[in-house]
Amino acid sequence: MWISKRPELFISDPTLVVQTNPPQEGEDLIPKNLIQFDPPKHGLQRKLISKGFTPRALRRFHADIERIAKGVVDDLFDEGDEGEADFVERIAAPLPIAVIGWLLGVPEPDWPKLFHWTNRILGATDDEYADEGKTAVETVLAAQTELFTYFSDLVAKRKADPKDDLVTLFAFAEVEGKKLSDLEILVWCMLIVAAGNETTRNATSGGMLALIEHQDQMRRLQADPELLPSAVEEILRWTSPIIHFARTATEDVEIRGRQIKKGETLALFYPSANRDEDVFEAPFEFRIDRNPNRHLAFGIGEHFCAGAHVARLELEYAYRFLLPRIEEIELAGPPDRLNSNLVGGYKRLPIRYKLRASA
Ligand code: HEM
Repeated sequence: MWISKRPELFISDPTLVVQTNPPQEGEDLIPKNLIQFDPPKHGLQRKLISKGFTPRALRRFHADIERIAKGVVDDLFDEGDEGEADFVERIAAPLPIAVIGWLLGVPEPDWPKLFHWTNRILGATDDEYADEGKTAVETVLAAQTELFTYFSDLVAKRKADPKDDLVTLFAFAEVEGKKLSDLEILVWCMLIVAAGNETTRNATSGGMLALIEHQDQMRRLQADPELLPSAVEEILRWTSPIIHFARTATEDVEIRGRQIKKGETLALFYPSANRDEDVFEAPFEFRIDRNPNRHLAFGIGEHFCAGAHVARLELEYAYRFLLPRIEEIELAGPPDRLNSNLVGGYKRLPIRYKLRASA
């Protein structure tokens, strides 16, 4: 918390992730964007979306997010009262894709493209997601080029015919009286696609896994849906879908007896912070009624997740529709984890379920 709240002392610009071969100056794979800007540039850019993502501003979207979540859950359960499925493929992945696609203004037939771009940009270190015959770096570059080409077209359409969506917002946005450049607009679109998909996907699937592994907690939540908001917070703490982000010191500094030198990069490990025994009682217990629950799954301070409210809504609606219908649920095979030091997630979560007869 101390580091995240001192964005001048610990900057995000040089690198956001710990890497074995960090790119040299000017060799960045992904063009710099909001998440990597430091003050004062960061605050000026963040203003563009800070009004759009507040709980109040999102109120008008509740019905749509609710409709999307219900549709995703219904699609699975329409197949019969019992069965097996990959929870990631059927529920956890389609939900955020649909919400992000819809917020950005991407037409529904193109939503699967968002899924593949995110997998390849954020999951390229996993062999399964790297393009055949390409390295992780080449995969990221190829996916990014496809994404930019697609969004260039969509931005041009919105410039000619504005709509009530994020692509239109970025297309017409101004910072200190200056319009964003074409590249800046595309980078914004990419940030929303990348930041809003895998994170929520992994919280949703990791949450389901936690409930399967803690059936007493699931039964309690089914019996008392009022606990849903606090259960969502515990799922966020427990899953911590972002494993780490990095900061680089601009001065020599000592933190809890450790010397950090100017120019040194350190990692903020969110799952570790979220199990800090100085903060959380019994941190290794999954408790849906944990209160207080000051978790840092969304970070804190200058870069606090801009999509936190969207993510919370998605998680709440997903479980609100799922849980009442589940009679029994168990793993149908081992969960398959993503190989990444950034995104803590699941590629597959095989489930076996039986639905309530009354549902
Ligand atoms: C469970 C889901 C999510 C988790 C765990 C998560 C996590 C995070 C974290 C830890 C940061 C802080 C970065 C830092 O300190 O360097 C962040 C920033 C950000 N997130 Fe999320 N996120 C989630 C969902 C979303 C969604 C749904 C969106 C978009 C709709 C989004 C958009 C962003 C953006 C734009 C930033 C950059 C904010 C800034 O630099 O000022 N996130 N997120």
